[in-house]
Amino acid sequence: MKLSREILRLIETAISAQSNAYCPYSSYSVGAAVLTESGQIFPGCNIENASYGLSICAERVALFNAITRNQTSIKAICVVGSSAKPCGACRQVMLEFSTKETELYLVDFNPKTNRRKVVRTSVFKMLPAPFDPVASGLLPAHPKNLLRARASLSRRPRHHRRGRRR
Ligand code: THU
Repeated sequence: MKLSREILRLIETAISAQSNAYCPYSSYSVGAAVLTESGQIFPGCNIENASYGLSICAERVALFNAITRNQTSIKAICVVGSSAKPCGACRQVMLEFSTKETELYLVDFNPKTNRRKVVRTSVFKMLPAPFDPVASGLLPAHPKNLLRARASLSRRPRHHRRGRRR
């Protein structure tokens, strides 16, 4: 797979963030990075807590990092770890800020050998039949990112919408 310089930079940022993971309880380190439309990249790592349920995943840290800087248009997200795949909670959080075009890079990285296996997918592919804030009436379809996401959803063939069959 040919990766652009921007995506390579995204992957490098996530790999570097993985080394900052605070995971004394699981010893499972994860790195993430978010690329926004402005070309900025925001890192994240998992941060655990003695009260286990307070731990947070790398993907959410990276996303919240971007949102905190008012960078809400997300072009790509990268997650790095051993057989890295975002958990269900992170998929839902990613979807909140993703469009159908938002790319998701899963990087299986082995720091011992420095070998990496990159898979490109999308947030919408990873979370089929999502809980949709607009469809549920919780959110009007006005924020820029959501408008784009919902517009692309409504372009799908009618029978693909909301799981309805005709
Ligand atoms: N973790 C992530 O950071 N991202 C994921 O997608 C899956 C799990 C973290 C949470 C916890 O700190 C550790 O990995 C083990 O579950």
